[in-house]
Amino acid sequence: MQKLTKHLKSMTHVWIILLTITTATQSNAHHELEGRDIEHGAQLYQDHCASCHGVNLEGQPNWRDFNEDGSLPAPPHDETGHTWHHDTNMLFEYTKLGGQEALRRVGVKNYTSGMPAFDGILTDQDIWDILAYIRSTWSQEIQDLHATRH
Ligand code: HEC
Repeated sequence: MQKLTKHLKSMTHVWIILLTITTATQSNAHHELEGRDIEHGAQLYQDHCASCHGVNLEGQPNWRDFNEDGSLPAPPHDETGHTWHHDTNMLFEYTKLGGQEALRRVGVKNYTSGMPAFDGILTDQDIWDILAYIRSTWSQEIQDLHATRH
């Protein structure tokens, strides 16, 4: 229990760092999601992401509980998860570089991430299509909220 609390604290820390950093960069990346091929994104999502994040973006069961190696299961990308809390650049980097590398670049070094890197497997355009597809599944309200996260 103590170990879990410690883990939870460090995870909360990780997401706070990410939110702070992405707020600080203030990049306006949401336009990257405009005019995307959503159907292509949906297909790529099923081929590359659904095995972990779920066919219906529902994530893995008990995704808030840590695995034995200290990593977290794949979270949902639907509205029940925290994907929409993150700005578009961060989601892009997490997908392209993988969780470990994306976090390392913002100074988080001692965290094991189960999110693989798709650099070399998917092109940047592919990744934008997938992220646009994920966004398209959110309600207008959540999309509007997400638009403020950059
Ligand atoms: C092998 C399983 C696996 C596959 C395949 C996978 N992911 Fe992940 N993903 C994870 C895990 C586990 C996490 C939790 C990451 C962590 O703790 O760092 C995650 C986290 C993420 C995050 C950050 C968390 C969030 O909700 O914002 C994004 C974005 C993401 N994945 C996108 C994708 C996309 C897009 C694909 C397909 C191109 C994909 N993932 C494929 C396992 C996977």
